[in-house]
Amino acid sequence: MEKRHMNLKPEYLDDGTNFFKIDPLFIDPDDLTQFSLYEKKSESNNQFRFRCLLLDTSSITKQRLMELLKSWENIYINKQQINCYNTYLKNNLTHILKHENINVSRKTGLLKDISMEVVKQTFETNFEGIKDKKTALKNIETLVSRSLGFISDIKSLNGIAELIGHDYDTHTHSIKVAWLMAVFINANLDLFTIQSKEQRRYLLTEAAVAGMLHDIGKVKIPKNILQKKGKLDNLEYLLIQGHTAYSTILLFNSGLSDQAMEAILYHHENEDGSGYPCNLSRENIPMLAKICHIADVFDALTSKRHYKAAKSPLEALKIMTGQNPFLETLLQFEKEARENIKTPVTAHVRDDYEARLRRLREKEMLEAESQKRVEARMKIRDKGMAHCFNTELLKRFIFTLNRSESFQLSQLL
Ligand SMILES: [Fe+2]
Repeated sequence: MEKRHMNLKPEYLDDGTNFFKIDPLFIDPDDLTQFSLYEKKSESNNQFRFRCLLLDTSSITKQRLMELLKSWENIYINKQQINCYNTYLKNNLTHILKHENINVSRKTGLLKDISMEVVKQTFETNFEGIKDKKTALKNIETLVSRSLGFISDIKSLNGIAELIGHDYDTHTHSIKVAWLMAVFINANLDLFTIQSKEQRRYLLTEAAVAGMLHDIGKVKIPKNILQKKGKLDNLEYLLIQGHTAYSTILLFNSGLSDQAMEAILYHHENEDGSGYPCNLSRENIPMLAKICHIADVFDALTSKRHYKAAKSPLEALKIMTGQNPFLETLLQFEKEARENIKTPVTAHVRDDYEARLRRLREKEMLEAESQKRVEARMKIRDKGMAHCFNTELLKRFIFTLNRSESFQLSQLL
């Protein structure tokens, strides 16, 4: 421990670039820090005096430390000790997420940063050996275990709401899916046979771990296909579909439970049997996979992509329940199509990409028997994605989100 402080001075005159501010509430009086805490005082133009308050928290009693932490508004750490501080945060995540005086926003930000690092590391793991697989799974399990109380608490829905509408990336997506699954399952435990607190914790852990890892197989899909802006050809689409099988191959022998493994393998199965990889339907799809599917699609629709804007939770859920949120636009386009048979029908059903595909298909359709096809399409128009999900579960999902004032979904109920 001494070595860590050897290079640090009791006082610095600095423009602030070598220090960063931390929240005193992030310090757990029961877990001593190995980094030094500084206060900042204005000195002159753009210069500050950083004075060491505590070399580390082991030098005073717990009682005194608690008093000091309450009295300090802001404290600073020298950037030389950033790694030490980050490790401390990771180890004390449970304490911070439980702290009543830290607001959901700050907790969400911290959870996102820490999870991002762990998930990114896991996705970059070489899954060749059993030891690598076990280590990767252990890291995810530790993260889930430290954050489970928070991510399964209905109150944390405000935190989920804060992350909605941001740019899509696989790592944040994994965290949000895990979080949505945990909060949904905890609020709908009657869907499962749970007899004890231990069983509840086990179920929530399995669900969140599955959520974190559900798309891990995407690491095996070439990036140019995953990030392709244009239309995917059949082979590319098939390769992308392979990510569910890849996930199970990567995690095979990692120690992951069958329940979590099934949730990962079947998270793209549709209720009507039109999904992949096995065309499972209804009761043949495991419950965790159905829940993962709902959380996955909800997050994908409400995230921004390079080819589409993020949908609001209400729009996304309208699509998922088969209520078309763009009905008026559609009717207008269809009117135009009838009036001028040579004009391809444009439709914003899901997103721009879908609309482009639709226009291409419709051009072909119009050449053959346009009117008949348009009428046929109108019949399936409002179906949206309803066929993909279990209606009862989707209703419960909407009901669960609606319990937070951050989601205004009552018109769907
Ligand atoms: Fe997926």
